[in-house]
Amino acid sequence: MQIEVLEPRSVAVVGAGYVGLTTGACMAEIGHSVICADTIREKVERLQVGDIPIHEPGLSDIVTKNLASGHLSFVVGAAAAVADADVVFLCVPTPQGDDGRADLQYVYAAAKEISQLMKPGTVVVNKSTVPVGTADAVAAIIDRDDIEIVSNPEFLREGTAVSDFLNPERVVVGAQETQAAARVAGLYGTLGAPIHLTDTRSAEMSKYAANAFLATKLSFVNEVATLCESVGADVSDVMKVMGSDSRIGAQFLSPGPGWGGSCFPKDTRALLALANDNECDFEMLRSTIDSNESQFDRVVGRITGLLGGSLVGKKIAVLGLAFKAGTDDTRDSPAIAVIRRLIADGATVVGYDPVAQDVVLEGLSKAVEPYSAADGADILVILTEWAEFGKLDFGKISELMNQALIFDARNLLAGEDLKELGFEYASLGVTENVAVS
Ligand code: UDX
Ligand code: UDX
Repeated sequence: MQIEVLEPRSVAVVGAGYVGLTTGACMAEIGHSVICADTIREKVERLQVGDIPIHEPGLSDIVTKNLASGHLSFVVGAAAAVADADVVFLCVPTPQGDDGRADLQYVYAAAKEISQLMKPGTVVVNKSTVPVGTADAVAAIIDRDDIEIVSNPEFLREGTAVSDFLNPERVVVGAQETQAAARVAGLYGTLGAPIHLTDTRSAEMSKYAANAFLATKLSFVNEVATLCESVGADVSDVMKVMGSDSRIGAQFLSPGPGWGGSCFPKDTRALLALANDNECDFEMLRSTIDSNESQFDRVVGRITGLLGGSLVGKKIAVLGLAFKAGTDDTRDSPAIAVIRRLIADGATVVGYDPVAQDVVLEGLSKAVEPYSAADGADILVILTEWAEFGKLDFGKISELMNQALIFDARNLLAGEDLKELGFEYASLGVTENVAVS
């Protein structure tokens, strides 16, 4: 199908979180007229004056610019946003339910709330990650012949969400009807990205499959890193070789303390639940998830080993609380998963993160800067790959610590330089002081 670059449209976005706010602001940035709605009044009032409640590079500038130009506005409640919209994006949360399935209550409630408020011809778009069949369920709730439901999954990585939106590798549009598909695809026309047109179920499935594949890639990398430690290989060299094969690709090959965030953990579990519900045994995905849980334990095992076999009474300085660098998001953060285990095993943990400072966890005390976290510590552990951790004054850190010992679970630091400063330095996927048989 030929995708026309349509004239600017009226767009409503329901849910102004990481995804909705980025989507709304970027839609305004490319010329559309956008109203973003959220149920939290305080959040809306902050957004109305350009105060961004999340850390997302570049987002503040485009929100401020488009508020000033009148292309972007914020309102409380979906009902106030949708009356004149040509397209309504649903960007409300789809958290993991108790049974592993995606909890769709917010999607369904938003659909119900707006169902009778939209003008004929409006297209409703599921942007949140939702199980296969959700577009049909939303259509049943809205129950109008003059409204089409389209699936247009997001591929926005936190930390680079603005750039991912404005320079997408692809735009996926799943629809049962060509005019609705063209209307949604046309919104992105000026971006020049490849547009994949498909049916709603394939679009919903492709989002889950993409995230599950990436999670599987990371679990594989972390397992290979563990094996490298046992056999005396160096995971960074191994990954360089693997990544130079274009069939594998050089990205997403960094070992770490496990994968996390607001998407991978819930999306992998939701896909597994979907498979179970459809009597498909997706054994490999179960292993991917289990392997990630084991990775948290492996990291704790390495730290325990470095501290002589017990964490009781040890003081551990942790650098990094966010689930990855570039965001303040700590939802399902591997750093938190590891810290919980360290505390359970008897350690005292002091954590520092340059932006994720709102974490509240029993037993975790927080430092306002990295040096006070290191003060008196028996080991310094890197759990998030903030580049600024590589630029710290490690001479000073060594003097502050009880012993000069670092475990780098992001392979971020220059180990050789640290060893010259007198540190014992260990990281993932390399043999440290282990006799290789
Ligand atoms: C959400 C989904 O959880 C995820 O699956 C999807 O891929 C992208 O959208 P995210 O944007 O990170 O993720 O969620 P969050 O930052 O929690 O933002 C959701 C926003 O919706 C919040 O600001 C919340 O206040 C708002 N909201 C929630 C509504 O406006 N209405 C509701 O009924 C519920
Ligand atoms: C993800 C998807 O990548 C994105 O397309 C969208 O669907 C939202 O969900 P995000 O959650 O922002 O994005 O994080 P991502 O960059 O994918 O990282 C996920 C986890 O994998 C993080 O914990 C990260 O630290 C980890 N990771 C990533 C590694 O451990 N090593 C890598 O090489 C890459």
